[in-house]
Amino acid sequence: MTCCRSRRRARPRSARRRASRIRLSPGCSLPDCPPPRQGRSNDQTNGCGELSRSHDPASGHRGSAGDTPWGDERLVSGKKSKGRSRLAIRYFDDRVLLTDTHAWAYYRVPSVSYEFTTPDERETLATNITVALAAIRMQDAEVHLRIAHRPYPAVDWATGLDATSDGGPGWREYLEQIYQHVWAKDFWSKEIYIGVRLGQRSVRAQLTDGLFGNFMNTYRAAERGRGPEEDALPAGEVGKWTEQAERLGRALTASALAARHASAREVAWLFRHTLMGSLGDPPPSATRRRTWSAGEIEQLYEGVVHNGRTMLRLEQVQGDSWAAFLSFARFPDLMAFPDGEPWLHYADSLPFPVEISSRMHLIPPAKASKDVSRRLAHARDMDAHIREAGAEAPIALAEQIAAARMLEHGITKDRLPFVYGWHRLFVTAPTRELCVRRVEAVTEHYRDIGIDLVNSTGDQFSLLSESLPGEKVRLSSYVQRQPLYTIAGGMPTATVELGDRIAEGVGWIGPYIGETLGRARSVVHFDPMVAAARNRPTAVAITGEPGGGKTTLAMLLIYQLALRGATIAVIDPKGDAEPLAEFLSKTGRKARVLPLSSAAAGLLDPFSFGDDPAVKRTMATETLRLLLPRMSEERESAMIQAVGAVATGPRPSLGKVVRMLEESDDPAWKNLGAVMRSISEMRLARLCFSPSGSQQIDAQGWTTVFTLGGLTLPDTTTGREDYSYEQRLSVALLYLVSQFARRLMNNIDRTAPKAIFLDEAWAITSTPEGAKLVPEVSRMGRSRNTALILISQNAGDLLSEQVTNCISSVFAFRSSERAEVTNVLSLLGVEPSEEHKAILRALGNGECIFRDLDDRAGRIGVDLVSEQLRDWIDTNPTRARRPQPAASTPQ
Ligand SMILES: Nc1ncnc2c1ncn2[C@@H]1O[C@H](COP(=O)(O)OP(=O)(O)O)[C@@H](O)[C@H]1O
Ligand SMILES: [Mg+2]
Repeated sequence: MTCCRSRRRARPRSARRRASRIRLSPGCSLPDCPPPRQGRSNDQTNGCGELSRSHDPASGHRGSAGDTPWGDERLVSGKKSKGRSRLAIRYFDDRVLLTDTHAWAYYRVPSVSYEFTTPDERETLATNITVALAAIRMQDAEVHLRIAHRPYPAVDWATGLDATSDGGPGWREYLEQIYQHVWAKDFWSKEIYIGVRLGQRSVRAQLTDGLFGNFMNTYRAAERGRGPEEDALPAGEVGKWTEQAERLGRALTASALAARHASAREVAWLFRHTLMGSLGDPPPSATRRRTWSAGEIEQLYEGVVHNGRTMLRLEQVQGDSWAAFLSFARFPDLMAFPDGEPWLHYADSLPFPVEISSRMHLIPPAKASKDVSRRLAHARDMDAHIREAGAEAPIALAEQIAAARMLEHGITKDRLPFVYGWHRLFVTAPTRELCVRRVEAVTEHYRDIGIDLVNSTGDQFSLLSESLPGEKVRLSSYVQRQPLYTIAGGMPTATVELGDRIAEGVGWIGPYIGETLGRARSVVHFDPMVAAARNRPTAVAITGEPGGGKTTLAMLLIYQLALRGATIAVIDPKGDAEPLAEFLSKTGRKARVLPLSSAAAGLLDPFSFGDDPAVKRTMATETLRLLLPRMSEERESAMIQAVGAVATGPRPSLGKVVRMLEESDDPAWKNLGAVMRSISEMRLARLCFSPSGSQQIDAQGWTTVFTLGGLTLPDTTTGREDYSYEQRLSVALLYLVSQFARRLMNNIDRTAPKAIFLDEAWAITSTPEGAKLVPEVSRMGRSRNTALILISQNAGDLLSEQVTNCISSVFAFRSSERAEVTNVLSLLGVEPSEEHKAILRALGNGECIFRDLDDRAGRIGVDLVSEQLRDWIDTNPTRARRPQPAASTPQ
């Protein structure tokens, strides 16, 4: 365990005011954080963003915006005037953002999965982020970390998904149902941006753009609508900064952050998003503007900000919303990492979106070390003074000295930059009351991990401005001095997101299957067909002990695929899918149950598989090996010879092999023939021992449920050597029917989506012959668009390399048996730590750990959405299986 040390110490109030934002004030032994202040701050950064506000002191202490007129703010990019606050931004495009004094570049940073990572992985992640940020080696490097939450694009999802369906019976109704459900659940997704101040603009540029630019803006405002506006920026200036932005971009892209340039559209969104509060995002503009200058930028500020003491009312054409800004005021001396909660990611576990804006100055180690040394020297002086006076130095002072010494050591040893940061959170809400409650909730939430947040009074508008791209620190209070590692350890990029993702433009987002549980909630979509599209292995494993929810999830996936027109074969030894087939055909989909007990004799004769004699021979020998696992060399050779002889003859069948063996003079052959004869006389054996009846099954577009009533599958704990003949026959039949389904799928149009569901898959995968089936289907998976869903209560059987290599998604339901828990975690690719084991054991019904195509793992709750579907597929025999027909309801 390592710790990131965060720095703060209270000191006498009188010593608290500082002249400079960054420099440590003399007389302070360690960094401070002032308490919440009343009224307007007097240490506001002045810079370019002079605010003109009309405060009404009389309305003072009720802390509300709206019921007390605090003066309205209009943000403008041009000249400041009464009731208008001037923001610094002048220009931005897909690479750079220019304020009237500085050039910035904004980058978008992808999120990373944090759940189920090991402490080592977390540390590595934090170190990588630290190193990546430390690479920003500019003079006075200033960084703006902005974490925003985009409302979940439910419409885009539904439209994209609709395009993957055949639009047949039942689909639109179902899509509408899950769309409504997801929409009502109000999900959002996290977006992380990092802005870097590239440098100061030249005086000439500032003048041209500033003075002349302002004049031009006024002029332009009058002339608006006259077509493309000319740029007042000096020629070459944008080019020069672009070059710098791209150079830094290359470094950040190559780093662990994998950042890319934020597009002009995204920067514009950050503005609009912040000012819209809880009103949701405005529809994206139809034109894809690449460069924004003053005239267009002004449109981003539309609306009025009503400035209150502790919150703001954001007034837009669409309505009103409330926003409150909070500063990180105090951190505990020690924050455990990676064992503790990452303090930035921590905000994600609240049930409403919490936005983050952190402005940070990266301080080179030499300077940070000098600062600390100076403060240390001062503290020692104080200590000496007190001692001289004969008094006992306060313990706090001794602690401060110790902390500063550790810090000094860390800075000189690691040579990593230090951060002077202004970290703020903000929450928004549609009503004032809700906003107040959210402020309380977020404050309380952070108190739990020893962090104090302050919803300061009178600064709200400054904090809003400060959170916008390209702005400066506008409230110098609550500065935190921390090692860069502490910021990285806050895990700004961590996410709980899981499930389907469009990667490099390939794929789509599948149907809704549930939401994440645990650290935070996020919507989970899954379509088994996405793997093939993204050129990944197409097998899906669903594991867990009985009663966890495996069948329920499988039924949901079958239902969703069937409603989109996929061809599905379900191998269902227990008949769980029968009611679902009935429900699907009631909906108007082609679905049927094919009980093998009534299927034509010889349907599963291994010699009927494939046209190639070699294939027929292989299938027959594999089947016989399943039936007779411990063959002596003699018997094995007899079997192979007999199979070979029959295969080359006319109309080969397993029955003929038995006859040939029986009729032989060789006692070994005779003996084997007698054993097989007795097997062939068992129930259901006629399926594979009769001469091949050529039953044709038209599968395209159908959901076919193969039920195998009467099978006596062995127990998962029974060793293969101890199977009875009946159990061997059952396993062999299950294998043959799976092969049959595979062949059926192989004959269908290559591009049509197809899926094979295999329940009790362990019975097949636990045999060497059966385990080969998985790579066979998987191989055809990508080329023939076929998914294979393996449902098994025995994860160990899926762990052979040839099988695991084919599995790209895993759903692990509850497991408690020791060996099984270890196997499941291994299948999930998750560290078998006690914590992870405990999570797996404690899963409730319908909850599982999901590892997705991108190797992200997390806990999810499977959500069937439809009551009707639930009633139809309920596997609990004690409950009424299906709804009573409406007609029977008495009038
Ligand atoms: N997603 C879910 N939502 C609600 N109940 C569920 C869910 N999954 C499972 N259950 C409940 O748990 C019981 C067992 O689920 P089932 O899918 O049959 O488990 P398994 O196939 O793993 O033995 C079901 O009868 C159902 O009542
Ligand atoms: Mg089941």
